[in-house]
Amino acid sequence: MPEPQIKFYYKNVTADVIGEESGITTRQMQTLAKQTSPLITQLNKERKAGKTPYRDLPFNEEAPGKIRKLVVELKDRCENLVVLGIGGSALGNIALQTALNPYMCNMDNAQRRGSRVFIFDNIDPVQFGSFLGWVEDKLDKTIFNVISKSGRTIETAAQFSIIHKLLLDKLGPEGLRNQVIVTTDVEKGTLRSIADEAGLKSLIVPNGVGGRFSVLSDVGLFSAAMSGINIDSLLAGARDMDERVSCEDFYKNPAAINAAVNWHYYNRGKRISVIIPYSYHLKDLADWYRQLWAESLGKAEDLKGSKVHIGPTPVKALGTTDQHSQVQLYREGPNDKLFTFLQVENFDRDLKIGPAPDCAPELDYLADKDLSILFNSEKRATEYALLESKRPCLTVIFPEVSAYTVGQFIYLFEVTTSFTGALFSIDPYDQPAVELGKDATFALMGKSGDYKPGLTYENWAEQIRSQTKIDGKFLV
Ligand code: PA5
Repeated sequence: MPEPQIKFYYKNVTADVIGEESGITTRQMQTLAKQTSPLITQLNKERKAGKTPYRDLPFNEEAPGKIRKLVVELKDRCENLVVLGIGGSALGNIALQTALNPYMCNMDNAQRRGSRVFIFDNIDPVQFGSFLGWVEDKLDKTIFNVISKSGRTIETAAQFSIIHKLLLDKLGPEGLRNQVIVTTDVEKGTLRSIADEAGLKSLIVPNGVGGRFSVLSDVGLFSAAMSGINIDSLLAGARDMDERVSCEDFYKNPAAINAAVNWHYYNRGKRISVIIPYSYHLKDLADWYRQLWAESLGKAEDLKGSKVHIGPTPVKALGTTDQHSQVQLYREGPNDKLFTFLQVENFDRDLKIGPAPDCAPELDYLADKDLSILFNSEKRATEYALLESKRPCLTVIFPEVSAYTVGQFIYLFEVTTSFTGALFSIDPYDQPAVELGKDATFALMGKSGDYKPGLTYENWAEQIRSQTKIDGKFLV
């Protein structure tokens, strides 16, 4: 592991720092270690038995080679890469772009190291229409990567249908073949059938890997590589983290400690988990984490089928922005939150704060200081203020924001999610509650046939309409 490693810091959840009412005592930590240690062994065994295929993604040698080849083939005719997908088929891609490409790279060619990347994970017609107006006369220099594991997600299907028609109208069937790359299940689903039928190039979402655990597969690697992100380094970071999160010594395993601390606080009424990056580049990792945490851990039943209705609520905040928006609540509101800061030690670049204007000598103390020092001082100051209010704080320290450290972070939090799922005794890999809303949308949009025995989509749509109709008596 020659690269600088991300570190997980947990002193500020201990009773020594925030007192026994909110903090974890040494004895409690020992108990957590005892409870969690067998789960490290269990997860390692499950992993060896092939039950958690997401953990093998960083070790897959085929995927990066295939993607590198595709990048070479496409790069000269791909000024713009448009990703269409949602949830696990988009959030990892967005997080990688924000983390690892310069802020202005889509607008400033000098800062761009590959294709411009645009990721649409929503179906707002105004937003998408505006983009289509821009891209319409650049279609021959634009590749569309349609990502859907199931191939039945209505938002992605709708976006793709619009693009499909546009490409056929403007460039014909050959244009469609040249400009579209599908990422989907290797065998099943509507998108796979479309890709096979139209002869579209395709990448795969590996078997047994759910969307929110798929960023280190073709799903996230392709757009990353097309934009110039070093995917080998990203995967190397994840691989190196694998060793740390497999370590059977609880006190050396950051995923096990992270999960145990989160579980401890959930069981003691701190059911909200706030993640606060102090870095613009890390901000969308917080969105990625929100989905990972919410869909994996929010469950009605435990592994034995008992009703538990469990799950910490993940909340995203951003330093320093949300100091001026949320910290009042975080300090004086209910003590029901665990805070996780993301802190960067060395920023890619720095700026000096200018001299104070003559009329404002009270700003002199800031003159000539580094902006990064101010940024990190604000993190410390906010953490200090939270600790004064006895609020538990964790910090993930990034020595730098690089493909390597981001790969480490992604893997650390994926495995933390597995540990937390095991501590809650729930299945972190399914998301049964998401289906009802998806199916109800199909019904409202005119799908026909049987939704379930005795209920057609048409009849169900009537029921949904009547149940969600606006009742004027309650409208003011
Ligand atoms: O994590 C998940 O499984 C979900 O968020 C899915 O990624 C999301 O619903 C999109 O599904 P699909 O990739 O099948 O279009």
